[in-house]
Amino acid sequence: MFDISENYKISRKIASNGMVLLKNSENILPFNSNDKIGLVGKNCLNLINGGGGSAAVKTEYTRSLMDGLVEKTNEGKIELYEGTVSIAETNDFTINTLNRLANKIDTAIVVYKRNGNEGGDRRLGEKSKIGFQEGAYAGENSEKTNYDEYEERVGYFYPSKSELELFSNLQKSNIKNVVLILNISATVDLSFIEHFSKIKAVLLTYLSGMEIGTAIADVLCGDVNPSGRLVDTIAYNYSDYPTSDCFDYNTRYTEYKEDIYVGYRYFETFAMDRVLYPFGYGLSYTQFQFEDCEYIVDEDNVVISVCVKNIGNVVGREVVQIYVKAPEGDLPKPKIELKGFAKTENLNPGDTQKVSVSLKLKDLASFDDKGILGHKSAWVLEKGEYEFFAGKNIRDLVSAGIYNLEENIVTEQLKSRLCGEKYEREIIDFDNSPVVEKNITLYDVKDNKVTLKEFINQLSPEEMISLSCGQPPAFPLGTAGVGNLKNRKIPNSQTADGPAGIRRSVNTTCFPCGTLIASCWDSDLQYKMGKAMGVESFSTGIDIILAPSMNLHRNPLCGRNFEYFSEDPLITGKTATAIVNGIQEQGVCATLKHFAVNNCEFWRTTNDSIVSERALREVYLKGFEIAVNESNPAFIMTSYNRINGKYTSENIQLLRGVLRKEWKYDGAIMTDWRNCASLDNEIIAGNNIKMPYGCFEQIDIALEAYNKGKLTLADLRNNSYYILNAVMKTKRFKENDFGKTHVKSEGVLVIPAIEVNGVSSTRVKQQKREDGKDYLFNLGKDARMQRTFVYYSVFVEKEDEYKISAEISTNCSSFEIWFCNEQDEKLGEVNCNKANNPNEWHIVETKIYLKAGENVLKLVFADEPQRDYPLFDGWFELPKDDIQIAELVIF
Ligand code: BGC
Repeated sequence: MFDISENYKISRKIASNGMVLLKNSENILPFNSNDKIGLVGKNCLNLINGGGGSAAVKTEYTRSLMDGLVEKTNEGKIELYEGTVSIAETNDFTINTLNRLANKIDTAIVVYKRNGNEGGDRRLGEKSKIGFQEGAYAGENSEKTNYDEYEERVGYFYPSKSELELFSNLQKSNIKNVVLILNISATVDLSFIEHFSKIKAVLLTYLSGMEIGTAIADVLCGDVNPSGRLVDTIAYNYSDYPTSDCFDYNTRYTEYKEDIYVGYRYFETFAMDRVLYPFGYGLSYTQFQFEDCEYIVDEDNVVISVCVKNIGNVVGREVVQIYVKAPEGDLPKPKIELKGFAKTENLNPGDTQKVSVSLKLKDLASFDDKGILGHKSAWVLEKGEYEFFAGKNIRDLVSAGIYNLEENIVTEQLKSRLCGEKYEREIIDFDNSPVVEKNITLYDVKDNKVTLKEFINQLSPEEMISLSCGQPPAFPLGTAGVGNLKNRKIPNSQTADGPAGIRRSVNTTCFPCGTLIASCWDSDLQYKMGKAMGVESFSTGIDIILAPSMNLHRNPLCGRNFEYFSEDPLITGKTATAIVNGIQEQGVCATLKHFAVNNCEFWRTTNDSIVSERALREVYLKGFEIAVNESNPAFIMTSYNRINGKYTSENIQLLRGVLRKEWKYDGAIMTDWRNCASLDNEIIAGNNIKMPYGCFEQIDIALEAYNKGKLTLADLRNNSYYILNAVMKTKRFKENDFGKTHVKSEGVLVIPAIEVNGVSSTRVKQQKREDGKDYLFNLGKDARMQRTFVYYSVFVEKEDEYKISAEISTNCSSFEIWFCNEQDEKLGEVNCNKANNPNEWHIVETKIYLKAGENVLKLVFADEPQRDYPLFDGWFELPKDDIQIAELVIF
């Protein structure tokens, strides 16, 4: 039996293991039983558990800091002055108030918060107000955002006037110490900390999930010794970042001027003095010594080993980070790069563990896109000295020795593909032979009676084009389905977000955000999280999880940084691998997203990333390559943006060239939701599925392309192959699950509204009415959808006329409900032309003819004429009235 509370425990464990202790002067942490602690500032009351958008998760609860500290007080580990809560509530932090508080407490905990959301990037300064209006601060599952509060904020990146006033008053007050909690979605300016000497400890928690408050308390009180390490470099100023002058939201293209020098690759090579906290950094309550560091090398591999000794007083874990300095040579390279890592066991004081990390020599090669070493478009190990290090962070290293390579070695000769090169499409295994109906189902393929190819050869172009589009979601807040040709026994396998836990309208486990997960540097724990998500998705009817998100942290202002792992591709690839393996070993499919170079949110659906082939291969694609090789994800989602002029989903070189041919990827490729590319070009390029459901105009585009010969039967067959191969891996297929059928044998059939087989909007929500009935609301379509609908599968034994009623409530002034069949033919309709209070429920009735057996009954809310909507950047819901539905009754 699935017990969700076990997943809550994993969420807490990851949260406490990923938090990074940045400062701990005078060893003020961990707290001890004599410490008198208080909360100052109202940020302490509500912590942010996660960011908005695809990573938003509905949870049963979010533990506050108070919850965590009360737990520790009850265990006798600290003394919490409860009066501070009311002070935090009033947000009164004048010096007088703080001095009164100083009679009761020694240490004030202050929380510094910044949220993140998809669809918009953070703003630096004077433009922060625009950021707010564009929704940049309003995460779906975060605290309500108050406009006035943000108006005075200098920006997302810098502390506001009132935040600085709080620190300055604390500095002047009699309170002795301040512990600062950074509940932030991504790197912000932290240079202010050194201006306030009373800030003695700083704990970086990011957005650490539903157990955030208890996990913070675990770390503050020493129940967990911090072992999280930075996965990004934190610089002094925004202008120190190499991308600060080319992360421009005013243009529709982004020039990756920094090339391969992203994050530490830039700072360690060119700007060592601009680093406030180096990559890999993080403190512990104990100390570790690295001894006997050495390497052995054979033809293909190098193994670096080091003995890690706990020389402090408490038990703890250390991350062993393996760095390599490549020779300077003719091809410019970053001064140092992370090439491997491992985490020790819990080591008792005095204990030593020998840690060995194995690397492939070919992974030390550079991509020579210009042929500087005489081998254009090849991975080359340049001759010279390679020095291997084991480190606690990129600045605290011990050398394992130097390896001298005498000749340049080409480890892989590739082709130049990503800067506009042409590519002829090759269709492997399929031809244009005429369609011959054989009445074979997908289960015949499963039972090895026929091959998948034979099955596909009988499908009509219309069927195959339908397969290439997203299908209706089968539950509230579902994203879309895949497959759904029922007469061929292809189920409607269901997707759901996302990166921080299963995103449903029912409560699920909210795990920490991606950056915190990566900061654990702990593949076992990340694997356990993936496993927990996989197990949980079984209980929520999900076949395909739209996670992990794995773009890089190119610039601290990217709105989705919290969802992504790191500035470094190795950490990114390894973290994604662990999560995908955890998910897929439970029989659930995972999706790597967003492939690739989706590093900003403004203009995300059209933005063009102008980037060199070398930076793509060494940096931006590398994490995906690692995860494809080491975890074989069933799905990959292309990104919205273009790369060097081409939409990623229409980019034949990227998909058929790099992904399929070079990396041998054989899973299915889907688009991001409502992108701007065209389905016919996508099929040619090798993007298999256009998401989500409802891009009906794209079906016409693809059909026309087929009729005109731009798309061939072989193209469609090849495309269907990848989709069906992936669908056969889903739980719905394995369990022969074709949706819920409601049977009316005698009397009345009552169908609860939430037992839908399909809804039009991905934002539908469910809630309980006072009488305990669940109802669906927020049925509203989004801008690209044509009409609002929900559909149910109804099974009746006898063909007959039935009276059907639906219990609805709405504040729309006038609309019609059409009852349609699967072919969208109207079976009956009801006029609703009076405005209702949305809380008043009423019953609408009509008579329809149902055939014996299964009937797909689609309720279409035809409340306004169809319109043509322009392609938006991002997505918008129509400002429309709501329709709610609670029940369907068939007499
Ligand atoms: C996001 C994807 C997400 C999809 C479905 C898009 O806006 O970019 O990451 O999976 O929506 O919710």
